[in-house]
Amino acid sequence: MPKPEDIQKIVREVAALVKQEAKATRGAVTLSPEVAEWLQSVHESPVVYESPAPESGAHAPHQELADELAAIDAEVRQCTQCGLNAGRRNTVFGAGNSRADLVFVGEAPGAEEDRQGAPFVGRAGMLLTDIIVKGMKMRREDVYICNVLKCRPPENRDPSPEEVYYCEPYLLRQLEVIQPKVICALGRIAAQTLLKTTESTGKLRGRWHSYHGIPFRVTYHPAYLLRNPADKKKCWEDIQEIMKVLNGESTPDMGGGLIAQRLI
Ligand code: URA
Repeated sequence: MPKPEDIQKIVREVAALVKQEAKATRGAVTLSPEVAEWLQSVHESPVVYESPAPESGAHAPHQELADELAAIDAEVRQCTQCGLNAGRRNTVFGAGNSRADLVFVGEAPGAEEDRQGAPFVGRAGMLLTDIIVKGMKMRREDVYICNVLKCRPPENRDPSPEEVYYCEPYLLRQLEVIQPKVICALGRIAAQTLLKTTESTGKLRGRWHSYHGIPFRVTYHPAYLLRNPADKKKCWEDIQEIMKVLNGESTPDMGGGLIAQRLI
């Protein structure tokens, strides 16, 4: 029988591990040699003394990723490079799960987003929430939502090439942290800006593209769908293709799509 102090030690270690595991998915846990020895004596399966080094590309713990995103967000709040800071109330960095499999990317914050400092919180945002919750049966907190531009352009005009030039690196850094399985561009502006093309949404949707190696799908912007509800059916087709990839039912074939990649 283990001694009472051993049991206390085990309880403390298990509590610490549970806390740690709540933040990270790891292949193994590290135990002190005494606990490992004791467990070995009561359990047939081998005990791993050291946690293996994370495989390359493996995700860091949740909190670490959230902190990395917060650090980029802090830079964005200070950013004055393109001049949009002059008219902004708030920067709108992004919201959601820092290790989401799916990232939605819109164009730029609108008036309500600028007021609240959060993406897609106006009428278009409510439709996006419906797509996620009612259509995909997920929660908004399960995905990550952001925009190409982090500041609102005056009168909601289209982003200028200069604004995209300065802001896109923040998006790239967000994606590097999150490492999603799929990016879904919402609307023509986000799709064209990120894929560096002038092709229409109609031509860009319906196939997989690659954005810095990440499978990239284009669908209609929720604001457009509010004005053109007949196209909701096509949006739902796009979302279903994304869900098949997220569920592991299909592998995105990016062979027939555009490739956006930094050359140096
Ligand atoms: N439209 C966008 O493209 N992004 C938002 O955050 C809100 C509306």
